[in-house]
Amino acid sequence: MQGVRKPPLPEWVLSSVSPRNQAVFNGGYRLLGNVLARCGVAVSMQPHFFSQYVELNPFLDAREAEGLVKLCENFGSYGMYSEEGLNEGIGEGLPQRFDAAFNFLRTGGRLGRRDADLTTLVARTNYFRETYAYGDRVFAPGIESLYRNPRLVEAAKQIFDRPIVEPAIVYANILLPGQELAVHTDVPEFRGLNRKLHPEWLIVVAHHSGLFDQHRMPIATSVSWYQDTNGGEFAFYPEGIDRPATAYRVHFNTALVMDTDSVFHGVDRVKEADRPMPTFLPRMRLHSEGGGRWTVRDGEDVIGSYDWDDMRFSISWKAYCFLDETERDAWKNGARELSIDTVLDVLCDDLRARGRLGDARPPNRELAEILVDEYVKFPRPSA
Ligand SMILES: [Fe+2]
Repeated sequence: MQGVRKPPLPEWVLSSVSPRNQAVFNGGYRLLGNVLARCGVAVSMQPHFFSQYVELNPFLDAREAEGLVKLCENFGSYGMYSEEGLNEGIGEGLPQRFDAAFNFLRTGGRLGRRDADLTTLVARTNYFRETYAYGDRVFAPGIESLYRNPRLVEAAKQIFDRPIVEPAIVYANILLPGQELAVHTDVPEFRGLNRKLHPEWLIVVAHHSGLFDQHRMPIATSVSWYQDTNGGEFAFYPEGIDRPATAYRVHFNTALVMDTDSVFHGVDRVKEADRPMPTFLPRMRLHSEGGGRWTVRDGEDVIGSYDWDDMRFSISWKAYCFLDETERDAWKNGARELSIDTVLDVLCDDLRARGRLGDARPPNRELAEILVDEYVKFPRPSA
């Protein structure tokens, strides 16, 4: 097996998880890919990946956008986004997103920074998240209009060329000075695979392999911003891993919509304030103190204090995109087409055909690393 080293396992998560002037790049990149291919130029995005994205700038009415900052404050406090439990079987002993975590540790992230020890790396990537709406449930009153925003729905239709869009979740991410998010693709969904039961990295591998496309449920993701931010650019790779990233600056009332399950993306470091960074632990919470002031508290103890101007606040929106009513009904009825055993069998057969695997299946840990190494090709650091 080539190229996979085994850094010590960090006890943290780099999970994803994981969409104004309307549609600046409506379909542009996909079309560009096709044009380049016809000209005999290599295009690095896999053919089953959707690389189009839509920019909405401005996104909302300005007062509505400002209101979302208030909504964020009124929500009160935010917990740290931490890793879901480890799986048994094929995922035993591995972080859910070891694909992204190992790549980050190996490379130092998009810009190849290797300026911190593991503790600081953990602090940089432990950001804050809360859910505003999920399914039919609304946890942050006032978020409804964004949840059902027709421009997001229209952009989602364009990305996948699918007419039926079902918004599924809205959540907020908050990064503090010095924090960043490693380059990754989000965890996709397939009819039959479940991130609660099956390792997230394996579901990512299933998508990158392209072998289960007929079972995939395409999800459009919007990320939107309501304040200008120092640093914290949304870096993404709409032309594939061999082309430069687009570093999208975070501005008031802007949004992007794309297939984040296919397009690699991450968040560059938010401009650093404290050195060294406080050590954030999963039990800590970020609290709004009013007047644009925020604190991170460990129980009653204040670990750090921040102004809105130093922070990065984004709202993520995800929606299922269906071809027709039959497909939507299959989703609503929980159709189970794939089993984890089938997925592993198909992947192992493909690995054998690629000369990466002998007749016998190796131990789980080894097989997991071969799968990620073979199918999940990360962009190289650019500096
Ligand atoms: Fe993501």
